[in-house]
Amino acid sequence: MKKILIVGANGMLGKDMVDGFSHAGYEVVGVDREELDITKTDLVQSKLTEIAPDVVINCAAYTDVNGAEDAKELAYQINAYGPEYLAGATRELDIPLVQISTNYVFDGTKETPYAEDDQPEQPLNVYGASKLRGEQLVKDTNPKHYIVRISNLFGPHGKNFVQTMVSLAKDRDTLQVVDDQLGNPTYTKDLVQAVRELLEDEAEYGIYHLTNTTPTEAGISWYRLAKRAIEYKGLPTKVLPVSSDQFPTKAERPIQGTLLNSKRPKLRSYQEALQEYVNTYLKV
Ligand SMILES: NC(=O)c1ccc[n+]([C@@H]2O[C@H](COP(=O)([O-])OP(=O)(O)OC[C@H]3O[C@@H](n4cnc5c(N)ncnc54)[C@H](OP(=O)(O)O)[C@@H]3O)[C@@H](O)[C@H]2O)c1
Repeated sequence: MKKILIVGANGMLGKDMVDGFSHAGYEVVGVDREELDITKTDLVQSKLTEIAPDVVINCAAYTDVNGAEDAKELAYQINAYGPEYLAGATRELDIPLVQISTNYVFDGTKETPYAEDDQPEQPLNVYGASKLRGEQLVKDTNPKHYIVRISNLFGPHGKNFVQTMVSLAKDRDTLQVVDDQLGNPTYTKDLVQAVRELLEDEAEYGIYHLTNTTPTEAGISWYRLAKRAIEYKGLPTKVLPVSSDQFPTKAERPIQGTLLNSKRPKLRSYQEALQEYVNTYLKV
């Protein structure tokens, strides 16, 4: 039986990684910032040596996209150098590192969805740039790496867009939501299974795009995602599409943020995943 170390175990994804791998019969050790601050290189080295896992999955990150614009150094510490230290320690142990990354590494200027071998060049915001640096450092440090890009994550254990929209809809007759930024929603529980299968299949090391499937490869907008979630919850709120110009944010976001999964089996449809999520976990 393999021993899996989940780093960032108290986050939205980390919690489901711990649950999912435990339920699948793995020996799981979950650590969060208090037990393992990934920005402390000596600690990373000693903790990994002490735990002696067979695989490390890094779910820790600085995820406040707007906040990162004013906290560049901290974002790079957590999203770039922390993963580099994990890559160094896993390299020493000769074990794989799974690094979770994001569609925000891309600038969104491509007209079609981004494939795994598209080269990200100029992320639009500090968060995306720090995550891209993390990808590069992991790649350069440990050849046994899986870089798993995801987008628009939702799940039971954290604040996320779907939860916010449903919660707002309860008190409003109408809701305006951005309709010109595209991506693919990713349900934490489906992602955990896809990562587990990646490891169990001993897939080739490299970059993967693992998100739920949308009706076409073009992805869907935040508006479409909010509208569906509110419908599934049975709320009468009218959802209105608006352009990004009407909702300026501190950090610029890519217009085209859709990821193409061309290397692994497709995950189930986002509608199925969303319906399960809103009906099981979002109380009205
Ligand atoms: N959420 C999304 O929509 C989305 C989209 C694309 C990609 N992703 C990626 O998916 C992954 C998981 O995201 P998430 O939404 O689950 O994040 P999250 O809920 O914000 O959780 C991140 C976790 O990382 C921990 N952490 C922060 N700094 C740390 C440090 N120095 N050492 C150890 N742990 C630290 C946090 O602990 P504290 O609570 O103590 O700070 C938190 O438990 C991340 O790599 C993120 O970049 C997320």
